[in-house]
Amino acid sequence: MPLLRAAALVPLLRAGGSGGLRGRAPPGGLRGPSLCSAPPQPAIAAKQPFPVELKAGKKYAWCACGHSRSQPFCDGAHKKAAPGVSPLRFTPEEDKAAWLCGCKRTRSPPYCDGTHATEAVQSAQLPTQP
Ligand code: FES
Repeated sequence: MPLLRAAALVPLLRAGGSGGLRGRAPPGGLRGPSLCSAPPQPAIAAKQPFPVELKAGKKYAWCACGHSRSQPFCDGAHKKAAPGVSPLRFTPEEDKAAWLCGCKRTRSPPYCDGTHATEAVQSAQLPTQP
């Protein structure tokens, strides 16, 4: 079945317009285009975390896109460089020293979780600054 015809079936299948086919894959195992798009991948700003002294009650915006020139904090660069990515805003409850993620791959943002030590990060090419 040509791809165009299979894609045309997707709305019908989702709407239940083809009788008993609702919820089933189209004949031949073809699937329609995904309605979801993958989130943009942030740029690796650094291959190591940034040591910072955080102040209790102060509002911070951690750069999640990797394009800020004020790492590890947001400078608004995401608006042009990565419109789908927003900074992570957080307010510490106590004064503390912390390591904020610079590779933008941590699973516990904004804090470093050691992901920067992976081969994927260490072998990555850093973006060039204009
Ligand atoms: S700098 Fe990103 S996980 Fe350590």
